[in-house]
Amino acid sequence: MCGICASIGNDNQIRNVISGLKTLEYRGYDSSGVALLKNGKISVVKSVGQIKCLQEKLADELNSKIVIGHTRWATHGKVCEENSHPHLSFDKKVAIVHNGIIENFEQLKKQLPNVKFYSQTDTEVFANLIASHSGSNIERLVKASKMVKGSFAVAVMFENDNKIYCAKRKSPLYIGFRHGQVMASSDVSAFGENFDYFYKLDDDEFAVVTKDKIDIFDKDLKLVNKAKALFEKAPFFDDFSEEKCFMKKEILEQPIVLKRTFFKYFSEKIIDETTLTKIKKFKKFHFVACGTAYHSALLGAEYLREFAKKDCEVSVASEFRYGFQNISKNCLYVFVSQSGETADTIACAEMVKQKGAQTLCVTNVPYCTLNNLADFVLPTFAGKEVAVASTKAYVAQVFTMLIFALLISGKDMEEELKKFALQFSIKALPDEVLNSALGYSKIFFVGRVADYVTSLEGALKLKEISYINCIAIAAGELKHGTLALVDDDTLVVVVSTREDLKEKIENNIQEIRARGGKILLLSQFEHHVDVEYEIRLSKFMEMLMPIESVVQLQQLALSFALEKGFDPDKPRNLAKSVTVE
Ligand code: F6R
Repeated sequence: MCGICASIGNDNQIRNVISGLKTLEYRGYDSSGVALLKNGKISVVKSVGQIKCLQEKLADELNSKIVIGHTRWATHGKVCEENSHPHLSFDKKVAIVHNGIIENFEQLKKQLPNVKFYSQTDTEVFANLIASHSGSNIERLVKASKMVKGSFAVAVMFENDNKIYCAKRKSPLYIGFRHGQVMASSDVSAFGENFDYFYKLDDDEFAVVTKDKIDIFDKDLKLVNKAKALFEKAPFFDDFSEEKCFMKKEILEQPIVLKRTFFKYFSEKIIDETTLTKIKKFKKFHFVACGTAYHSALLGAEYLREFAKKDCEVSVASEFRYGFQNISKNCLYVFVSQSGETADTIACAEMVKQKGAQTLCVTNVPYCTLNNLADFVLPTFAGKEVAVASTKAYVAQVFTMLIFALLISGKDMEEELKKFALQFSIKALPDEVLNSALGYSKIFFVGRVADYVTSLEGALKLKEISYINCIAIAAGELKHGTLALVDDDTLVVVVSTREDLKEKIENNIQEIRARGGKILLLSQFEHHVDVEYEIRLSKFMEMLMPIESVVQLQQLALSFALEKGFDPDKPRNLAKSVTVE
């Protein structure tokens, strides 16, 4: 995974690179480093831990007009300074930062028998390949890139050369310009404000960058004339800037996200009739996604089945990718992804396109790899999501896919959705629920159909930020095995928002209580069973209840993490954007 950020300018660029890297921490945050050029010589500073640890290590006297930086999520080699980027070539004359995976790095190492390697990474070989070639520095980079198999976005610095060199294949790389500064980064968000325009490098393109010039080449070193892209003004949410963590801020932003989504799809009508007509022709829809996005895809499929009577299937991207697939041109493949950069999801979209089928991408980041593979794009309007655990992006996906299903079905429910978007508010989690729930170390989540999806999402949130071992299970499946685990120390969170399934859920609650399990019930209506704890939900139309109920589970997970003293924004072992397989 990892994020790269490099900058060249009129003055010291360390601060710009550090602030760029901080915006890229969602791509990994187990270690970081920078290389800088001072009097023609390369120096490297690295640190294990978040960017703030690197920042503390960067002494004041260090300054440079050229800096390349990296934030890491370990793939090859454990978390330690030796494995952190930048990596140097054997002669210390080339420094490189890399996002991606060099698949043939072991074979390439054998081609450099006299080189001593200091790290266990795949990246170090790239620096050494460049150093082992002759020619101009851009020629050396191009030659090395041709030997490498796999994915890479790299920024490279050479001794005695006041330029930054970039190359890209399969991993994203953008180059932004403003007067007196050029920056290269894995994501345009690192550029910050006041940049005039940027270029998105395509695969096997190379760039040579000075502080006021960007030259882009193809692999034959012919200059490429690329279109400049302009920055879209990001949705601005400042109401919750005082919140202590991003996850809390992002949970609180959800009412704004819903209003904004409604406005975009109904007032601005961002999908036109011609597009809808084309999409309506598809007989089948196959959703593909990972993690939280997979959960929202499950609901998206349910909405399309219910309202538009479409045949739908849903797959986890890492399974879809290697399972046997009968790709059909009558099917529209729907890829759901907050970042649009998830490696497995992208690989599936590429595979589907190669087989001649069409794709619809539901993404939250406008400039992302997945959108480049899309025949149709269904944007979500969550705004930038920083916390690793997805909250507002999930709710934006669910609401967007509900609107989409209704638009495809031709049902006019604009007024009902508007009322919901305007009325929806965040209700705080009752203190007594939190205090009691905190005593359990074994927690199950159960529900039926859409409530089962909410259970899956609630369990994922809780495990990823509070490290509690919890599972979600379809309520009707309990007695087929999982009930064996229920005892006096078990808390079962029951989500029950379908009135027609109330009795079924009541039976499930009885089965759990008979084995000593304690119940936390989330519902908008009365049940005729005793439960230990209850969260009474606001009553909205049934199709909207997954949004109302999931927000309570997001808050439950957040409260657990905070109570246990964990950082909810940066849970251990995870990264926001999973850009490697
Ligand atoms: C969990 C979470 C992850 C992501 C998953 C897919 O809170 O955020 O499970 O949903 O990694 O990421 P995207 O949506 O960017 O493809």
